[in-house]
Amino acid sequence: MRARYGAADALKGLNLTVGEGEIVALLGSNGAGKSTTLRSISGLVPNLSGSLNFAGQSLVGLKSEAIACLGIAHVPEGRRVFPG
Ligand SMILES: Nc1ncnc2c1ncn2[C@@H]1O[C@H](COP(=O)(O)OP(=O)(O)O)[C@@H](O)[C@H]1O
Ligand SMILES: [Mg+2]
Repeated sequence: MRARYGAADALKGLNLTVGEGEIVALLGSNGAGKSTTLRSISGLVPNLSGSLNFAGQSLVGLKSEAIACLGIAHVPEGRRVFPG
């Protein structure tokens, strides 16, 4: 998976598999791309390429609300659910 903010690469070739029933912690320094990984899975990063699959279905190009309907929940850090 590869994700960009404008011209800037944020994820460059991430490979990650999470098995059913597994609990996985993603560790990394500030700016490593942890939030971008989760935002990509939730459909919140528009410039995404590569493959991203959930239960055999591609999530690439799906809107975030469609991804949520598949049962993928995203809990943002802090209290920034409603920015306004
Ligand atoms: N909205 C944004 N616009 C431009 N660059 C961003 C944005 N959000 C994150 N980045 C950049 O993407 C990279 C990954 O950031 P991020 O996913 O927030 O890392 P982490 O959550 O691991 O601290 C960093 O280089 C960061 O500066
Ligand atoms: Mg973060």
